[in-house]
Amino acid sequence: MSCPYSINPNQSASISNHRDVEESIHTDFKDDMSYGDYLNLEKVLSAQHPLSDQHDEMLFIVIHQASELWIKLAGHELTEAISNIKNGDFGHAFKVISRVKQILGQLTQSWGILSTLTPVDYLKFRDTLGHSSGFQSYGYRKIEFLLGNKNAQLLKVHENDPSVHQELNTILNQPSLYDEALLALKSHGLPVDDSVIHRDFSQPYQHNDSVLQAWLTVYQNAEHYFHLYELAEKLVDIEDSFQQWRFKHMYTVQRIIGNKIGTGGSSGVSFLKKALDISFFPELFELRTQL
Ligand code: HEM
Repeated sequence: MSCPYSINPNQSASISNHRDVEESIHTDFKDDMSYGDYLNLEKVLSAQHPLSDQHDEMLFIVIHQASELWIKLAGHELTEAISNIKNGDFGHAFKVISRVKQILGQLTQSWGILSTLTPVDYLKFRDTLGHSSGFQSYGYRKIEFLLGNKNAQLLKVHENDPSVHQELNTILNQPSLYDEALLALKSHGLPVDDSVIHRDFSQPYQHNDSVLQAWLTVYQNAEHYFHLYELAEKLVDIEDSFQQWRFKHMYTVQRIIGNKIGTGGSSGVSFLKKALDISFFPELFELRTQL
């Protein structure tokens, strides 16, 4: 008896290895909007301009541009999540926060592609970058601010671009995702200090005991506070994914430039390592020790 999974040799010979374009498929885009028109591909795909003649510079440009697009989407979704929580719409907030987690996962995956760039290959075009650096990424700064890592010093590099500077300044001064979560704790009747509720949102968030106690109450009475409990775990997911991106960035940078200073002027890897100590949602991690 022949194997039921084997292809009959006569049948294999009859496969044409060709797909006909069906009659109904639209092929005339003289007056119709095409795929490329809708996505503005002419602009997007003609925006890669290597400054050197090095083969690997294209990878460097594409990985940054693709990351910027995913970061842009993450910012769009986080803005929505903040507004959903503000309006008490936890269902939609969970949906978009789950999406942000996947986007961050996608961004983290891309370090694998970049680590095929060797130190020698990178040094061949590094000088052409001048002082440009991801440190000046306003999309990235926007998502850090939206999540709650507020730092007014970081606006300085955007002073030469008034519209970007204004947008970041506005986000800096608005409640972050975590601030909205803490307002939600309060609106669910949990005692949170007024100094937290009415804090200056442009300042870095500092640990607060009343917040820790409120989250502990939520975790110890998860059935009663199920939405808040689920929200907290979704925030932990986001921080987990974000830290993986930060770590892989730092580690890939170490692999490529060692302890050289950054093109943006920082100490490089040691500066990036310090970011790993910044938590968006500190009490959500502290409570795990207390449970
Ligand atoms: C060869 C590849 C890369 C190297 C050597 C590198 C190096 C660095 C260094 C040294 C810094 C610190 C600031 C400075 O002095 O420049 C930095 C910051 C940063 N880079 Fe990269 N990077 C690389 C790829 C990327 C990619 C693909 C992205 C994706 C968007 C990115 C995004 C960022 C961001 C957002 C910061 C600011 C981080 C913070 O404020 O904590 N980098 N990078």
